[in-house]
Amino acid sequence: MKRLVIVSNRVPVPREGLRPGGLAVVLKDLLARKGGLWFGWNGACHPDAAHLPPEIQKAEGVEYATIGLTPAEYRNYYTGFSNSTLWPLMHSLPECIHFERRELASYRSVNERFCENLLPLLRAEDVIWIHDYHLLPLAALLRRHGVRQPIGFFLHTPFPAPDMLATAPDGGTFLRDLLKADLLGFQTADDTANFIFAASRTAGAVTVDDTTLLFEGHKVRVGTFPVEIDPQTFAATAAAAMEHEDLRRLAGSLAGRRLVFGVDRMDPTKGLDHRLAGYERLLHTYPARQRQVTFLQIAAESRTDVPSYQALRNRLEHQIGQLNAHCGQADWTPLRFLTRGSPRSTVAGYMRLADIGYITPLRDGMNLVAKEFIAAQDPENPGVLVLSRLAGAAKQLEAALLVNPLDHDGMADALERALAMSLAERRERWQACWDSIASHTALGWGLSFLDLLHKTTEA
Ligand code: F6P
Repeated sequence: MKRLVIVSNRVPVPREGLRPGGLAVVLKDLLARKGGLWFGWNGACHPDAAHLPPEIQKAEGVEYATIGLTPAEYRNYYTGFSNSTLWPLMHSLPECIHFERRELASYRSVNERFCENLLPLLRAEDVIWIHDYHLLPLAALLRRHGVRQPIGFFLHTPFPAPDMLATAPDGGTFLRDLLKADLLGFQTADDTANFIFAASRTAGAVTVDDTTLLFEGHKVRVGTFPVEIDPQTFAATAAAAMEHEDLRRLAGSLAGRRLVFGVDRMDPTKGLDHRLAGYERLLHTYPARQRQVTFLQIAAESRTDVPSYQALRNRLEHQIGQLNAHCGQADWTPLRFLTRGSPRSTVAGYMRLADIGYITPLRDGMNLVAKEFIAAQDPENPGVLVLSRLAGAAKQLEAALLVNPLDHDGMADALERALAMSLAERRERWQACWDSIASHTALGWGLSFLDLLHKTTEA
C-alpha cells in the first residue's frame, strides 16, 4: 500500500483552539481518508530549532512530523523571501516585492533542512506531494539525495506571466528545480500555460504534448487542478448557522439594511483598499443607497511581520476612519471592519445573510471564499456575488458579476446592479454558479491529482 506524504510550509498540527487555514482545510479530508504523513513547520520559532529533530505526533490515522524555525529563518525565509519576494511576485504585484540576497540564501537553506529532516522518514512505497511557493527547490533537493519515489508539486498561488517571472531572482533555477517533480499542478489553465511557456523558454524543457514536458531526459506532466470546497457540507453549515446567537445579533443590528459582506486575510493581494474605495464610490454615485446598506468586512490579521502587510494595515485604518467619518450619519455606520477572525460556521452564516458577497482580490490563485459564498446561499432567495475577474475562481463562477478590482466606478456599478437585481436574475446567476461547483469536493480535487501522479509514474 502506498503511503501519502504531504509536505507544506505550515502544518496544522492538531491543537485545541487552532483554526485551520486555506491549504489545511483543502487537505484535511484527503489525509483523513488515506492516512499518511504530513511534514513541515510547526509555526513556532526557537533559537535551537536548527539542531532539533522533527517532533512526531499522531492523530486520527495521520502522522505529523514538524520542525521549528530559528528567529533568523523566520525573518529571512518566511517573512523575507517567501512572503516579501515570492508571494507578491507570484501575484504580479511588483510594487510589493522586496528582495535581499541573504533572504534567498536562507530560503535555500531552510529547504535543505526540510529535505534533511524528511529523508530519514521516507519509505520506499511513499508518494510525496509538495505544496506551494515556500518549497520550490524541494523536489530537486530530494532527487539529489537519491529519492526515486513519485513526487508531485501543487502551486496554490497563480503562476506569473513571463515578464513578471523575469523579476524573480534566480527564476531559471526555480523552474529547473520544479521540473524534477513528476507532476506539477496549477489552479487555472492560464497558470499552467504560463508555466509551460517559462519552462520551455527559460529552462530549456521540450514540449512533448499539451501536458507533457521533457527535461534532462525526465518526463514531467503538467496539469490544471482548480482547488475545490465541499459545497454540500458548507451549505448545511451556513443554513444551521442562521440559528446561532451571533447571526441573530448581526441581523438585528442591520435594522433592515442590505448587507454587503467580504472576508479575507489582511493581505495586499486581496485588494481591500480598492474594495473600500469601490464601496465609497457607490455611496457617492448612488446616494439613494446611503442608509440602505451596511458593508461588513472581516480582514483577519496575517503575516504581521511583513512590512507591506504593516503598511496595508496603516493605510486601511486611515481609510476606514475617513470613510465612516465622511459618509456616516448619526445613526448609520456604513462600514464595519473587523480584524479578528471568526469561526468558519459563523462566517458561513454571515455569507447566507448577506445580499452581496463582495470579493475583489487584485489577483488570487483560486479564492475559496467566492465558492463558499455561493454554497452558503439560500437557493430560494440567493445573494449576488461581486467577484474580481482576476481571482482563479472567476474562471468557474462566470455568472457572478465580474469586476476589475482596480476600477472603483466599475465596482460601484456592480454593487448597484446587485442591489437592484430581480429575484429571477439572482436565482439564475446563483444556479449557474452552483452548478459549476456542486459536483466537486476538496477530496475529489486531491484524489484527481494523486490519480494522475500515479498514472504518470506507473506508465
Ligand atoms: O494561500 C496560501 C497560504 O499559504 C494558505 O495555505 C494559508 O492558509 C495562508 O496562505 C496563510 O499562510 P501563512 O499564515 O502560513 O503565511
